[in-house]
Amino acid sequence: MKIDGKPYRSIWLNENGWSVHIFDQRELPWQLKIVELTSAQHAAIAIKDMWTRGAPLLAMTGAYGLALALREDPSDENLKAAYDMLVATRPTAVNLKWALDEMMKVIEPLTPIDRAAAAYEKAGKLCDEDVETNRAIGEAGLGIIRELHRKNPGKTVNILTHCNAGWLATVDYGTATSPIYRAHDEGIPVHVWVDETRPRNQGALLTGYELQQHGVPHTLIVDNAGGLLMQRAQVDMVITGVDRVTRNGDACNKVGTYLKALAAHDNDVPFFVAMPFTTYDPVMEAGSDVPIEERDATEVTHIDGLGPDGKLTRVQLTKSPGGNLAFDITPAKYVTGYVTEHGVLSQPGLVARAG
Ligand code: MRU
Repeated sequence: MKIDGKPYRSIWLNENGWSVHIFDQRELPWQLKIVELTSAQHAAIAIKDMWTRGAPLLAMTGAYGLALALREDPSDENLKAAYDMLVATRPTAVNLKWALDEMMKVIEPLTPIDRAAAAYEKAGKLCDEDVETNRAIGEAGLGIIRELHRKNPGKTVNILTHCNAGWLATVDYGTATSPIYRAHDEGIPVHVWVDETRPRNQGALLTGYELQQHGVPHTLIVDNAGGLLMQRAQVDMVITGVDRVTRNGDACNKVGTYLKALAAHDNDVPFFVAMPFTTYDPVMEAGSDVPIEERDATEVTHIDGLGPDGKLTRVQLTKSPGGNLAFDITPAKYVTGYVTEHGVLSQPGLVARAG
């Protein structure tokens, strides 16, 4: 990804070889603030308070969090305490636990003195793999966009997305946005309907920022507008990211995704879920079993924006109490296909591939 023409990843190791850089995504798009994580506790706060977010990226932050913990104290006790702390930060996306477990497989058998170096090496490898995976997702999804364009060569392909499943949610490329960037770079005329994604507005703030940086035409819409656009045949496909796909193909993603899938179904609009296999939960049978994160109600009752003084300001929207379920479940029957690093798969295809 490039920000103002300069290439970045969303997480990277500092030149000192041990501390870790991320963007404070709470400040985007207003300012590009780079934060240095120096301890496992620091990484846990960054995940929980959403300085960093998106299923694949919070997994990588967790992996580096474990490395930071071992640098301080590589004992069995500290390893377990850091794992427990990090895995509890955000419950819904399965990627975080997956990454921590991958780290543990490498680290646990080692003698304490060898653990930190191995942890840094493994976390770096997981990041590189995430980049390659997302590139492959882009390739698979590009085929879908090419086909839509082939059917209507003179027309722009209109794509609706929810939340942010872009490079800011991964190490690079993004999942749902990866095919969009590929199509745009290939010269296919694409336009993205960006759901604002209340309450935290990841669409308005982050997806909009990414698309702007990449020069992809897009329009911000309120979360409830997608249905009308679909009825008016102004959406050719929907593609979203996902935080956990269960064995039966149910897709748990940012709250509001389900309603887009229902509208897409009612209007014969294909609905795709972009997912790396790190988001597949081979153990959980159905979406109803996924732990749904409930976040602070103030995210609903208040809103952040740029004040007239140019400073990030919080205002209160209401005097009513809020409720804040952060994710919902889209049943598999509404998913046209899962866009993975191994191609566009059906639900049986997912199960077969996962083994
Ligand atoms: O609460 P967030 O911002 O972490 O939620 C992000 C999403 O729901 C994304 O769509 C999902 O994590 C997939 S990111 C590639």
